[in-house]
Amino acid sequence: MTAKDPLVIFTPSGKRGRFPLGTPVLTAARQLGVDLDSVCGGRGICSKCQITPAFGDFPKHGVTVSDTALSEWNSVEQRYQDKRGLKAGRRLGCQATVQGDVVIDVPPESQVHRQVVRKAASARVIEMDPATRLYYVEVQEPDMHEPTGDLERLRKALKSQWDIDDVTADFPILRRLQPVLRKGNWSVTVALWKGDDRPPRITALWPGLHEGGLFGLAIDLGSTTIAAHLTNLETGEVTASSGIMNPQIRFGEDLMSRVSYAMMNPGGDLEMTRAVREALNTLAVEIAKDAEIDPSLIVEAVFVCNPVMHHLLLGIDPVELGQAPFALATSNAVAMNAANLDLAALPASAQVYVLPCIAGHVGADAAAVALSEEPGKSEDLALIVDVGTNAEILLGDKTRVLACSSPTGPAFEGAQISSGQRAAPGAIEAIRIDPVSKDARFRVIGCDKWSDEDGFWEETAQTGITGICGSGIIEAVAEMRLAGLLDPKGLIGSAEQTGTERCTPEGRTHAYLIHDGTAEGGPRITVTQGDIRAIQLAKSALYAGARLLMDERGVDKVDRVVLAGAFGAHISPLHAMVLGMIPDVPLDKVTSAGNAAGTGARIALCNVGARREIERVVREITKVETAIEPRFQEHFVNANAIPHATDPFPELHSIATLPDVSFNTGGGEGGGRRRRRG
Ligand code: FES
Repeated sequence: MTAKDPLVIFTPSGKRGRFPLGTPVLTAARQLGVDLDSVCGGRGICSKCQITPAFGDFPKHGVTVSDTALSEWNSVEQRYQDKRGLKAGRRLGCQATVQGDVVIDVPPESQVHRQVVRKAASARVIEMDPATRLYYVEVQEPDMHEPTGDLERLRKALKSQWDIDDVTADFPILRRLQPVLRKGNWSVTVALWKGDDRPPRITALWPGLHEGGLFGLAIDLGSTTIAAHLTNLETGEVTASSGIMNPQIRFGEDLMSRVSYAMMNPGGDLEMTRAVREALNTLAVEIAKDAEIDPSLIVEAVFVCNPVMHHLLLGIDPVELGQAPFALATSNAVAMNAANLDLAALPASAQVYVLPCIAGHVGADAAAVALSEEPGKSEDLALIVDVGTNAEILLGDKTRVLACSSPTGPAFEGAQISSGQRAAPGAIEAIRIDPVSKDARFRVIGCDKWSDEDGFWEETAQTGITGICGSGIIEAVAEMRLAGLLDPKGLIGSAEQTGTERCTPEGRTHAYLIHDGTAEGGPRITVTQGDIRAIQLAKSALYAGARLLMDERGVDKVDRVVLAGAFGAHISPLHAMVLGMIPDVPLDKVTSAGNAAGTGARIALCNVGARREIERVVREITKVETAIEPRFQEHFVNANAIPHATDPFPELHSIATLPDVSFNTGGGEGGGRRRRRG
């Protein structure tokens, strides 16, 4: 390179350098470390190296680019243009050579490390840097005089054409190697996995140039549902998403009942392992079908799950997780072949990565939330709660992050609630109670209108009003408190005490009627005293977990709250605070992060560096074990009141008035008195 050589400037990176006349643009990019893709190694067949040269004056860069700055359009480009078409102004970087000073733009689709913007509320981008990449190579034919194996010649080709050393291949790949090489006439595309510091491994191969894409699954393996995102490993796009119920439910609704099942039934753990693996195979086949791809193109799967699901997926008896000190078989990340997990729907050499667990009760799902929400990078003190059958709770900022898990039970998911149901069309998801008339209006899933709006009943005729889902029950209980139907202790008043016939006796207690559909053959939807108790237990567990972390951190307030989880996205911040589920913060400081665990899985799938990062972050997180902390019980008891027995909730009281009523008669029933508002 001399000062007389043409200057090549790449955008958007701004990298620049001088190169001798005739240097291919791809070569210049490689030498400068510019992110320009190539699968075929510059042979002009993969089209991954497309660039857009810019001509004219560029005062910003101090160059003028003439029309002849790149070599003329050549026959390889013409062939590609005829076959597939190139966008106007595009050239192939491996074919166009430098003939003068030039400014070259690398479009996003030609960048290996392109950025994928998440659709979720936060604008975090995922930088593509997957563990698996495609490489096209031309392998020397076998020769009587040079008796080497096909794999050895393939390894030699990868070394000479891509400078990749020490490549390994598992037996299933070895079995396919010879026919594939011959079918491709000694050219082959290999999927090479470089997921950690072990030697690179061939995980799939195709004859000739493979253009069918490369995919991975990001799987959020929950106790109730399993959700998967099929992700294109070249572009980062989610090609299809699908979910399936976790068939282990038949062995127990919550985690501890599944651990008990394993304890009580010899071989029960294996039964549960088999069930979840079968479901995963079904899910993989279905999602591939939805995306119209061959499942053999799925070369990686990343799992996030709680510790019990983690052990059952890996085929490890979870019995130790059912008793103190809650020892995990391993808290480290786990990487292995899909065949080890009997995931027969995926190629045998597909690679599985399971995120690390934080502690015996705080799993890889919480680690995934930490990866997605990055509390350790937060300037202000953030409390992140992933609400589910167990709540995963993270509290932290740049200085320190703490984590715990709290057993909220299934009430927030609509289970163990008299009119409760899972979120599905027909379920009440939002409710408002008029503080004067005490009448309820509501909205159901599947219809945007409120029940007092024109057209609501026509639009819901098909589904009916079937029950209350998790977000609906939270709103119902909070609205009852706001309307003076429920006292701070959680007692529902009688008709006489509340002034509404909607409060009806039920045994020694009362229930509030939201909707009576019996005339049309539908259900009578009420909130009973038992429902209130179930919600109180769940919300107290959640709040107590958060408070425990705050104690540990030495604070009595947080700066912001993030509600994560599919359900978290639907919780109304005001109602959550009236209920006292979350600590008191200004309402605009409560945000929803959607399915943060699933996003964490996607990040780990698309970026191998993120795996190393979360493995490091997890080691630095302070684990707090709720089950053995004496203060948990104290916090739990205080949090039983609505919103709280001792914590003042000043932000909440500045925006909402909670009637100061008491329906406690000492005998547990009726006759309470209405106190003056405080
Ligand atoms: S590098 Fe494959 S076409 Fe240019």
